Amino acid sequence: MVKIIAVANNKGGVGKTTLSISLAAEAGIQKKRVLVVDTDPQQNAYMVLVGDTKPKNSVTLSDLVLQFFSKEKQKISSKLAITPANPSFVGVEVLVGDPNLQGIDLIAAHKINKFSLIKEILKPLRDSYDLIIIDTPPATDTLTLASLCACDGYIVPIDMSEMAQSGYLEIDSIVDQLKEGGNCKNIKFIGCVYSMFENRKAHATKLSMDLAKKNLFDRVMDLKISRSTHMNEALICHSHLQDERNHKISIEYQKLYKHTMGVIV
Ligand SMILES: Nc1ncnc2c1ncn2[C@@H]1O[C@H](COP(=O)(O)OP(=O)(O)OP(=O)(O)O)[C@@H](O)[C@H]1O
Ligand SMILES: [Mg+2]
Repeated sequence: MVKIIAVANNKGGVGKTTLSISLAAEAGIQKKRVLVVDTDPQQNAYMVLVGDTKPKNSVTLSDLVLQFFSKEKQKISSKLAITPANPSFVGVEVLVGDPNLQGIDLIAAHKINKFSLIKEILKPLRDSYDLIIIDTPPATDTLTLASLCACDGYIVPIDMSEMAQSGYLEIDSIVDQLKEGGNCKNIKFIGCVYSMFENRKAHATKLSMDLAKKNLFDRVMDLKISRSTHMNEALICHSHLQDERNHKISIEYQKLYKHTMGVIV
């Protein structure tokens, strides 16, 4: 049965997209059928995975969202918004987002069913994939909340800053509210993960880790993803590091993937 993971933190630039892409790449290598859902109007996941800036699909995620809120009976298939990733991402496909997703909050404002939005859009796709990874925007907006409601488990990437840690606390309280409101039930917290860990600046690292211990208790995984220039280079080339199985950061992602799948089974 398909498993769905959301990657969320309302703090920008903490590594959500990179983590989503890297987990997808690893899942593909493990022969899983993977879909990455790009709910961010910036379309960063799409750009890296497909290697393009403008989707060629006639339908994109915002069309599916508008359809969800409309009363029209004729349904557009969610499959039309899917495109294969470039060949370096074996087994990975993308549900294409677009800049119009920025306006969704206004449309969704008074809609009571808005939290089931992503769940419904993914429903017809569930049988076609083993793993669906939802990359969310740097905001606690309708799309992020609906993504959390659609998932089996969520990961919160953090950098070394206090802002990223407070982003986790906000997501945590939102998930509690969604659960209380009956919008999501068995969603599992996979963990906060340092997505660009650096030991180089020893004092800053110690301060960040002390703060994380104080703010986040045991929520931060021991497992860390290191900051690596190789990672930046791979993304620029619309690729990943998972082919270099013995590279430090590749090993870290392999461990994160294993841990994640272990939590959401
Ligand atoms: N492990 C890493 N090593 C080096 N650079 C990294 C690593 N992870 C992410 N980055 C870089 O950090 C920057 C931000 O990463 P990313 O775009 O994944 O964050 P994000 O949380 O998705 O951002 P946004 O909130 O804008 O969507 C990017 O330039 C990315 O290449
Ligand atoms: Mg992103």
